[in-house]
Amino acid sequence: MCGIVGYIGNNQAKDILIKGLQKLEYRGYDSAGIALVNDSGVELHKEKGRIAALEDAIGKEGKGTTGIGHTRWATHGAPSRENAHPHQSISGRFTLVHNGVIENYQQLKREYLADVNMASETDTEVIVQLVESFAEKGENIDEAFRRALSLLHGSYAIALIDKEDNDTIYVGKNKSPLLVGVGDDVSVVASDAMAMLHITKEFVEIMDQEIVIVKQDGIQVKKLDGTVVERDTFTTDIDESDTEKGTYNHFMLKEIDEQPFVIRNIIQKYQDDDDGDIKLDNAIRAALNDADRLYVIAAGTSYHAGLVGKELMEKVADKPTEVHIASEFLYNEPLLSKNPLFIFISQSGETADCRGVLVNVKEKGYKSLTITNVPGSTLTREADFTLHTHAGPEIAVASTKAYTAQMAVFSILAMDGARAQGINTGFNAINELGLIANAMETLCDQKDRMEQVARDYMFDTRNCFFIGRAMDYHVVQEGALKLKEISYIQAEGFAGGELKHGTIALIEDGTPVVGVTTQEHVNANIRGNIQEVIARGANACIISTEATKEEGDNIVLPNINELLTPLISVVPLQLISYYAALHRGCDVDKPRNLAKSVTVE
Ligand code: G6P
Repeated sequence: MCGIVGYIGNNQAKDILIKGLQKLEYRGYDSAGIALVNDSGVELHKEKGRIAALEDAIGKEGKGTTGIGHTRWATHGAPSRENAHPHQSISGRFTLVHNGVIENYQQLKREYLADVNMASETDTEVIVQLVESFAEKGENIDEAFRRALSLLHGSYAIALIDKEDNDTIYVGKNKSPLLVGVGDDVSVVASDAMAMLHITKEFVEIMDQEIVIVKQDGIQVKKLDGTVVERDTFTTDIDESDTEKGTYNHFMLKEIDEQPFVIRNIIQKYQDDDDGDIKLDNAIRAALNDADRLYVIAAGTSYHAGLVGKELMEKVADKPTEVHIASEFLYNEPLLSKNPLFIFISQSGETADCRGVLVNVKEKGYKSLTITNVPGSTLTREADFTLHTHAGPEIAVASTKAYTAQMAVFSILAMDGARAQGINTGFNAINELGLIANAMETLCDQKDRMEQVARDYMFDTRNCFFIGRAMDYHVVQEGALKLKEISYIQAEGFAGGELKHGTIALIEDGTPVVGVTTQEHVNANIRGNIQEVIARGANACIISTEATKEEGDNIVLPNINELLTPLISVVPLQLISYYAALHRGCDVDKPRNLAKSVTVE
């Protein structure tokens, strides 16, 4: 979703802001803009479409060593130049960028800004007009800014500049992510540290309902009531090279290829140096042990990882587990057990639907654990415990390595839960994860084969079905999501036995159906389902394992522990989707309408 950057230093801000915005492109956006303060006032540039269009529009202009920038993912008002940020106050004195949703903007407009002619349809513009109206009444900017923010209901990350002061950026935050970075005679603002790694690795966390007065030589954090807050900096461990494509044409392919390394990294991070076994924080182990039921809350791909997680928690650790789509749970809560533990799975750690649930369950006094790839993210800060997926920054919108990492961490959680209860699982998670990393490598080395499958089944199709049973049912849902996200082929994943209860009506001559069969006890059943669709003209592609294979199967996976096969069976599905999207000329890393980090409900 929307991304924010800001810079105050000795260098020209334009290129630094543009580079920062490019680093935030992965979040998804439909327009972009920057504003720079210089001797002649504020220079504002914004455009609909890609950052490249903004750069073209700026051309040789763009002077100033203080500035803010924004990528917008439309919520209030269509994607257009008028609705793009930054937005300016009536007199042009204040210029502001915002990420989030102001729920009471109509009411604020009526109450405080009845005489103001708004230039856009956005909720955002209300904020900058409020600051101006309070400043005009004589409040200093710090006060006017805090007063405006204290009237807002909803979520916001904001950066504001004042035409009359080229050494300050006012920053505020509530529920939306924002960091302030500090360096040698330079300060920056960013939705995500990776946007400003080319300037500094030292950042300051901002809490909800705090503002920061950012100057070139230092910052001051305040609460909305004006109380000054002391806050230490932290050094981010993200390496700038992790955010570059290197020799790859797309982040998605790079991230698929990184999966074996990620799994090995997870092994290292969760292995006890002394006995080589899994090492989890005692408090997490106790929370898991105490819970009578686990409630996994997630969205999108993370929800699919949760489906696999549930199987692992129940089958390995004997823990009753439910998985819920966050946005559904938020407004339609099921009957809860007496002593639940909530597990939030979120690559970004920022998903608004998950956060909504977390806020509610915290109010009720329930314990919570976040499984995330972004330490320091909102869900991490607000949950009782965190398990990090250690996948490194994931830039492509379509999640790949974060998904397999989430399942790997779940396998560790399940194994630890089993051990804590003295259950003999008959396998060792660390060894199994090692085999998985090797198997992933073997599959990543078969790109020609995956491309051939994409060519034979997906290049020209309008729709595609994926079927599987047991663990494979969860993976085919993820496979279908991957394909539709990036290739725009209408794709659905079904339980093999369910297809004939309706969906089989859609099977026509040549309809591609991908059948995944890695579970020996349902191999015969799913193969029966595949025959049913072949009999109706489907073009069937079969992915099996060494244990379940039959002659003619398209892709055969190495044998690993059956319960963990989702970690490897998804790899061909990811690669097939990638090649299908590539062939169809789609923007693989930045699919239309999608955002990586969904910070609005
Ligand atoms: C967006 C992304 C998906 C992601 C989902 C949940 O829709 O496009 O790839 O799975 O959000 O995000 P999270 O950060 O909570 O895992």
